[in-house]
Amino acid sequence: MNKDLEKIIFDEKQIDNIISNVSSKINNDYKDKEPLFIGLLKGAIPFMTDLVKKINLKCFVDYIKVSSYNGSESTGNININGHIPDVKDKDIIIIDDILDTGLTLLNLKTLFENNGAKSIKIAILLDKKDGRKYNIEADYIGSICPNEFIVGYGLDYNDKYRNLPYIAILKREVYCK
Ligand code: IMP
Ligand code: MG
Repeated sequence: MNKDLEKIIFDEKQIDNIISNVSSKINNDYKDKEPLFIGLLKGAIPFMTDLVKKINLKCFVDYIKVSSYNGSESTGNININGHIPDVKDKDIIIIDDILDTGLTLLNLKTLFENNGAKSIKIAILLDKKDGRKYNIEADYIGSICPNEFIVGYGLDYNDKYRNLPYIAILKREVYCK
């Protein structure tokens, strides 16, 4: 294990099981639909990639690049960098790595509602329930996770550790200097 990490909380096998559960719910709920998956870059890349491989429906995939974090602190604002998917009259499923304060997903849901999406659901790999500050919940939740700063499988600290195949708690000394 990388020396910056405190403890692994989800290993590769656990992540795979979590994604199988989420994908089977979506396959069931969207049987007669052609959903558009919109992944939030960059954190959702591994989750979205593995999730859509388990989707057996006709579907579409797009992305949006959003940031709200600076180091290990949420900034309170979201920035959308560049491309905004066309959601008009589409059944969309927003995909993110983790739901924390709710700022990002609340803002995006409002944006896609205003842009005419037919329906909007949210799928997240992890739910940091104790971090919530905004009134929003996900429709598909992989697993609850502890209120700790975690990295791996897309989750980063200053853009590092996204490549780890597992999810782990980052040692405090790495970000509290
Ligand atoms: P929210 O807007 O506060 O809900 O934060 C959501 C975004 O913050 C996620 O898409 C992640 O990119 C990032 N985030 C929240 N918690 C963590 C964490 O523990 N590690 C890494 N990134 C996190
Ligand atoms: Mg993110």
